[in-house]
Amino acid sequence: MRAQVGIIGGGPSGLLLSQLLHLRGIDNVVLEKHSRDYVLGRIRAGVLEHSFTEILREAQAGERMDREGQIHDGFFIAHAGVRHRIDLKALTGGKTVMVYGQTELTRDLYEARDRLGGKIIHNAENVQPHAFDTGKPYLTWSEGGQLRRLDCDFIVGCDGYHGVSRQSIPKDKIQTFEKIYPFGWLGVLTRTPPVSPEVLYANHERGFALCSLRSSMLSRYYIQVPLTDSIQDWPDDRFFDELRHRLPGEVAAAMVVGPSIEKSIAPLRSFIAEPMRCGNLFLAGDAAHIVPPTGARGLNTAASDIHYLYHALVDHYTRGDDRGLNEYSRRALARAWKGQRFSWWMTKLLHRFPDDSPYDQRLQQTELEYLFSSQNALASVAENYVGLPF
Ligand code: APR
Ligand code: PHB
Repeated sequence: MRAQVGIIGGGPSGLLLSQLLHLRGIDNVVLEKHSRDYVLGRIRAGVLEHSFTEILREAQAGERMDREGQIHDGFFIAHAGVRHRIDLKALTGGKTVMVYGQTELTRDLYEARDRLGGKIIHNAENVQPHAFDTGKPYLTWSEGGQLRRLDCDFIVGCDGYHGVSRQSIPKDKIQTFEKIYPFGWLGVLTRTPPVSPEVLYANHERGFALCSLRSSMLSRYYIQVPLTDSIQDWPDDRFFDELRHRLPGEVAAAMVVGPSIEKSIAPLRSFIAEPMRCGNLFLAGDAAHIVPPTGARGLNTAASDIHYLYHALVDHYTRGDDRGLNEYSRRALARAWKGQRFSWWMTKLLHRFPDDSPYDQRLQQTELEYLFSSQNALASVAENYVGLPF
């Protein structure tokens, strides 16, 4: 089997790249280790930068997003019982974000691949990249007990943090940077009307909380919990009691409670690998970097990787110009590090760190008071939240 580009991983990064390349006549195959239902069963975040929505439209996969997604002109940060609105539109000269679940856009990308007859191989076991330090890289995997092989010009690792592609790069050719946070996010999905019309982040002495939404009758709520907790420790009523404790009075009073239809705890991690290329193997998305979800950067940074790599591959195949490929890692990392910084900063600002000294806690309070008292500080948050230029 042969294709110009072999893509490992059928998550949002791999599917978006596959669709964009196909539309430019660049032949590619996606190898995904799980079934499509498994991939679509994962509940993830859902705040999209304006530039990401543009890429999805270019990929002919934005129609349902534009129909069902919600454009938000702002978001809230609650502190000391008061809600403060960050007016994104006013602070950025008109930019906004789109609230649309990652699961839904992944489903839209699969359907867009189907419409074009995209080659996606599911249940591809033991995918291995080979010879990517040569001009003739190839992928092997087993499928129904059969060993298969794909010869290609380039391999793109879109296989997430636990994937094989980054692990295949020799240790002396890659450097990683990591920060582990001493808490996780307990997330719940309920078929109830969202308590806040826009995303609401809350800093509280009992810990962080977040009120988000998927639609007018689908709410997504999170609270900060110790990593030692399990979902068994958090029956629905305890979850909602604690969530309401951490919200301003009027928000807590307006909360409509309902049974959880999904509940999970996710650890928080900041991680990034450099460089994002080794020979003819390129890393994109979670395969190269992870951020805590506090800044809503994860998916958007994955999309900017794909933006840079897609244009670089098009330049290579249409004009034989490899400057984009040679610049890919530097450009993608420059933007990814800014996403790392903003996500770390939002996490420091809004969570309760168990080992923080009284001095640290005062600094956090002062950071919040400065933020709400300074248009410049608010503008900085807004420009990062709507997405920095490519
Ligand atoms: N072989 C084949 N596929 C693999 C392998 C492997 N060895 N390992 C992982 N995969 C698949 C996973 O099953 C998954 O479907 O790669 C896909 C990676 O998808 P994601 O983890 O969603 O990563 P990415 O597409 O880069 O999307 C990044 O996902 O986690 C969120 O916050 C993150 O929003 C960001 C987005
Ligand atoms: C979500 O809607 O799940 C969500 C929103 C904002 C975040 C993280 C998650 O920062």
